[in-house]
Amino acid sequence: MKRSIEEIAKTEAEYWDENKLDRRKIKKLRRHAFYYSYKREAKILNEKVATFKDKELLEIGSHSWIGWIKNKVVPKKITCINISKVELEKGAVNAKDLPFPIDFHLMDANNLTFPDESFDIVYGGAILHHLDIEKSIGHIHRVLRPGGYILFTEPLNMNPLYKIYRKLNKKERTPDEHALVTKDFKLIRSKFTFDHYFFDFFTVGFGFLALKIYGDKNYDNWINRLGYNLDVFFSKIPLLHFLFARVIIYGKKR
Ligand SMILES: C[S@@+](CC[C@H](N)C(=O)[O-])C[C@H]1O[C@@H](n2cnc3c(N)ncnc32)[C@H](O)[C@@H]1O
Repeated sequence: MKRSIEEIAKTEAEYWDENKLDRRKIKKLRRHAFYYSYKREAKILNEKVATFKDKELLEIGSHSWIGWIKNKVVPKKITCINISKVELEKGAVNAKDLPFPIDFHLMDANNLTFPDESFDIVYGGAILHHLDIEKSIGHIHRVLRPGGYILFTEPLNMNPLYKIYRKLNKKERTPDEHALVTKDFKLIRSKFTFDHYFFDFFTVGFGFLALKIYGDKNYDNWINRLGYNLDVFFSKIPLLHFLFARVIIYGKKR
């Protein structure tokens, strides 16, 4: 039987509050294989985040701001929400002596309680795929002012190889999370115009090989570089986007 979004949100809160996931294996491969693509991702995010100056921001999630915004740009204000108290605390402990106001709310992103048109920008890292896309995107659109922007980094689940990997490694994920597929893009596109930037197909296989040959923490090698360069080239071909593991979505409210 299909579970309600309230039941799903309760399970999400439990998983994050009780630290139930085991992501050690995937984190090691990512750290190695995505060495160059993380740099490309950071460059693109930095360009977008530069536009956050003097804006009122809503973070869906509660600690991406530490890497994305802190010491880079001064927004007018950041509001962070999370369904998990423990996750919320991860942001709150870093929120001292900031040159802008920041506040934290325990809130379900599928049911934002902020008034209409409260924010200039809504953003988040690896978060939409934990939500009901239709409901959360509807709320995000509602709380954004006219001409407001979204910025999200998300995992994808269109490549059959990733689907198999995910089925075999369930402990790395919450039971209801769903990396994005084509129908999610259609829903987002119905409310936002957007650019996207795709990352990590060749880097995964090449990174796995490089990890075996060079060992952990020896990221800077020709195999990783080749995987990365092939990705940058092939990510320009829309028909091949389904192969990739991650995406940045930067969009404007319709
Ligand atoms: C992969 S983590 C990403 C963390 C994120 N980058 C941050 O800064 O908080 C997924 C996050 O989604 C949160 N989450 C899951 N379901 C949610 C919901 N319905 N409303 C708000 N947050 C939710 C989890 O608590 C967790 O913090």
